[in-house]
Amino acid sequence: MNTRIDELLAAAQAELAQANSDGELEAWRVAHLGRRSSLTLALRSIGQLPPEQRRAMGQAANAARRTLEADLDARRQTLRRRTAHAHVDVTMPGYPVRLGRLHPLTLTLRDIRRVFAPLGFRAVSGPEVEWDRYNFELLNIPAHHPARDMWDTFHVQQDARPGDLLLRTHTSPVQARVMEQVPPPVRVIVPGKVYRYENRDASHEAEFMQVEGLAVDERITMADLRGTLTYFVRAMFGPDRDLRIRASYFPFTEPSAEAEMSCHACNGSGCPVCGGSGWIEILGAGMVHPKVLADVGYDPDTYQGFAFGMGVERIAMLKYGVTDIRSFYRNDLRFLRQFG
Ligand code: DAH
Repeated sequence: MNTRIDELLAAAQAELAQANSDGELEAWRVAHLGRRSSLTLALRSIGQLPPEQRRAMGQAANAARRTLEADLDARRQTLRRRTAHAHVDVTMPGYPVRLGRLHPLTLTLRDIRRVFAPLGFRAVSGPEVEWDRYNFELLNIPAHHPARDMWDTFHVQQDARPGDLLLRTHTSPVQARVMEQVPPPVRVIVPGKVYRYENRDASHEAEFMQVEGLAVDERITMADLRGTLTYFVRAMFGPDRDLRIRASYFPFTEPSAEAEMSCHACNGSGCPVCGGSGWIEILGAGMVHPKVLADVGYDPDTYQGFAFGMGVERIAMLKYGVTDIRSFYRNDLRFLRQFG
């Protein structure tokens, strides 16, 4: 009689392997595990067996039932997995992948570096948390000098030794750092973040970027400054740009200058971009003050230099026609996607 159960089991399993849908699985379940299945009937008829066979027969039939129930579950799982795969439509278009883009300030910085690199200016950097000594003292701005008002300063620590710590207000301190480290000749640009205690508006940020420039050598004159800056504005804003230099004041340069370029939007005839004047102010510059040279150990009788400092956001705004400096730091993808 156990052989009969083994046969039932084998036949049911063979049939189950052919079941390929929920309907077929259900039909199989009714046929092999249902009330009128051979197995159920076999179990029911146990009472008619001689007593010594009942126990073995019952155990075998129940074991076969459990096996078939487990097989049914397994088969159901297999079919479910198979249908899940069958529903992947390989002809469907994929999800769109949006390419990342470079930030407009990154693009502008790259352009600036690319302009100065062939002229021999190496890009260097310095610390954003800076000593008063570099941010002011070595730039010929002693403590309590009224020129300090030109830079609204975030102070980090007022009475640190050997001087106050602050967030650098410009990239100019790196001039002193470089000259302290290397003997002349020097030609560097310094891109980096600077900080000012400012109210933010469309043209002011408390955190922004500058690029400093410094060239020191024998026989450097203001003509070198003029030539370098003319080359720069033409490379950045087109070959038709003109440069003009107007007298200004910075403690670390003598003479000091403000450089303006002919407006790239109207070619100098006057428009809203240049406020009608035809000229756009783009940076501060000058000849490095002899005292600055002397304080870092350069002999001002032998060496002269020119320096300049520009706001990167300002250059980017002019280049891309951006009217609010704050757009660079809002991380609004609708804005950022327009670049790169
Ligand atoms: N450091 C100045 C500022 O932030 C800009 C500047 C002016 C830098 C003249 C220079 C320079 O190197 O020569 O306002």
